[in-house]
Amino acid sequence: MKVIGLNGSPRKNANTSTLVEAVLKGAAAKGAETRIVNLNELKMQGCQGCEACKKKPGECVRKDDLSPLLQEIGECDAIVLGTPIYWFHVSAQTKTLIDRFYCFLGEEKNSETGETNSYFVFPSGKKFVIVTSQGDENPELYQPALDWLNLVATIMGAASTEFITHCGSANDKASARNNAELMAKAESVGASLV
Ligand SMILES: Cc1cc2nc3c(=O)[nH]c(=O)nc-3n(C[C@H](O)[C@H](O)[C@H](O)COP(=O)(O)O)c2cc1C
Repeated sequence: MKVIGLNGSPRKNANTSTLVEAVLKGAAAKGAETRIVNLNELKMQGCQGCEACKKKPGECVRKDDLSPLLQEIGECDAIVLGTPIYWFHVSAQTKTLIDRFYCFLGEEKNSETGETNSYFVFPSGKKFVIVTSQGDENPELYQPALDWLNLVATIMGAASTEFITHCGSANDKASARNNAELMAKAESVGASLV
């Protein structure tokens, strides 16, 4: 079983990556093959809206680091998507990745009705874990962002979606690491993926 961790925080060894790594640690302890990718280190561009993927759904023609990563994500059994909350939503790095999931959306014209139908070529049935880290202490404050991430996972055909929400970091990189309960939850969610 392959589990990929995607860290959408530009800060390495901070709260988001710590929790993503804890989920991966839990999965690895049960025998999963794991890998973490720091999105900030990739050479990547946002979706250009070129629509080339509509001719060949599942393939992005951009020649950057995200195109092979999108293929790798499609081959994994579970996806741990981590993002800090930036301006009430996900980080730019995370949004760039999610926009590029557009390549998995195919379109088909019905010759009888003339209607265009959409379909998704991303392999369904993957387990998702969404990790978020925020400065504010109120866990309900960014529910719209969490709902949106849940919608993304649903559209991607998720078999299950678990949430690990870290609040009140006060800009302290070690805040999540010092939260034993949350760290234990992250490891246990990781173990349950396998
Ligand atoms: C550009 C920027 C925007 C932020 N916006 C928010 C916000 O809207 N709400 C919030 O609670 N925290 C906000 N924060 C704080 C981060 O969410 C918080 O420090 C988080 O723990 C960072 O995760 P990291 O340690 O993994 O980098 C923001 C931080 C930055 C740098």
